[in-house]
Amino acid sequence: HEPLRVAVLGAGTVGADVLRLIRLNGEELAHRIGAPLRVIGIAVQDVSKDRGEHVDHALLTTDASALVREADLVVEVMGGIEPARGLLLEAIENGASVVTANKALLAQDGVTLYEAADEHGVDLHFEAAVAGAIPLVRPIRESLAGDRIQRVLGIVNGTTNYILDAMARTGAAFEDALARAQELGFAEADPTADVEGHDAAAKASILASLAFHTRVGLQDVHCEGITSVTSADIAAAARMGRTIKLLAIVERIADAEGTERISARVYPAMIPSSHPLASVGEAYNAVFIEAEAAGSLMFYGQGAGGAPTASAILGDLVTVARQRVLGGVGPRESRYADLEIVGIGSL
Ligand code: HSE
Repeated sequence: HEPLRVAVLGAGTVGADVLRLIRLNGEELAHRIGAPLRVIGIAVQDVSKDRGEHVDHALLTTDASALVREADLVVEVMGGIEPARGLLLEAIENGASVVTANKALLAQDGVTLYEAADEHGVDLHFEAAVAGAIPLVRPIRESLAGDRIQRVLGIVNGTTNYILDAMARTGAAFEDALARAQELGFAEADPTADVEGHDAAAKASILASLAFHTRVGLQDVHCEGITSVTSADIAAAARMGRTIKLLAIVERIADAEGTERISARVYPAMIPSSHPLASVGEAYNAVFIEAEAAGSLMFYGQGAGGAPTASAILGDLVTVARQRVLGGVGPRESRYADLEIVGIGSL
């Protein structure tokens, strides 16, 4: 089979790791896919910046739009709403399959992208958008597609978990713990999205949309971050046998008339220190999915960072690449039902 032309949009922490893995494992991936992957260009804002040995300088371009028009597969790791949104639509309209890690974009305007992908018969995969390396999107979309999910609950932001964990273990101040998380490459470009809970809320909206086959936008998620959590709060919680964790919870709830609704919320919660989520340290994420027939499933792993996020992207890339080789497209979401959304509920 002819090489598949891959365009990579963005070469930050995650992008550099994606390029590193394609380079290191290229031959093996070609066997798995049935065709080699050929990176034809890497779109960046500044071509003069040094991005390490795995980012081939000769492939850097500032003309992302020209690049996506040449590609069979587009990997978007630039983040933000525009120009990412316009570029992905352009890619889809040109018949390219798309892999994105962009939770903010999916939460804000995923529907436009899903519909465009449907219309043009191409794949749109985004495992890396929720909880880094941890498979959540595929299990919900595919493995549990025949079940009825009641609730998805857990820790989906590595930066805030790192901060709360460091504050609890070492008594570190919020600012120092945040600076360390940024150094380690967990935080978003603008850490406000992490500490104010917006990143977790975007993930909650994606999880709820998938789990409940409905549209849950960012505005439907009640969101409270960790900026007002102090070391004193954490110490007081510990004295009561409790641990403070930033939780994302999406669930079906019935109102007084028995009408089913969806609740989606992100907030710092005090949980018993004996609860499995209390022992999730550093930038790890952990998520429970509760489904009618399957019961309770727990997912745990590295939810942030270059290599873990790149792992999820490569998995998606292999999937969409195989579909190209086979000449078809992958599984589709079921059609949306129109469930009504209510914001806040309690644990
Ligand atoms: N900033 C995010 C986090 C990255 O800390 O979890 C992964 O989505």
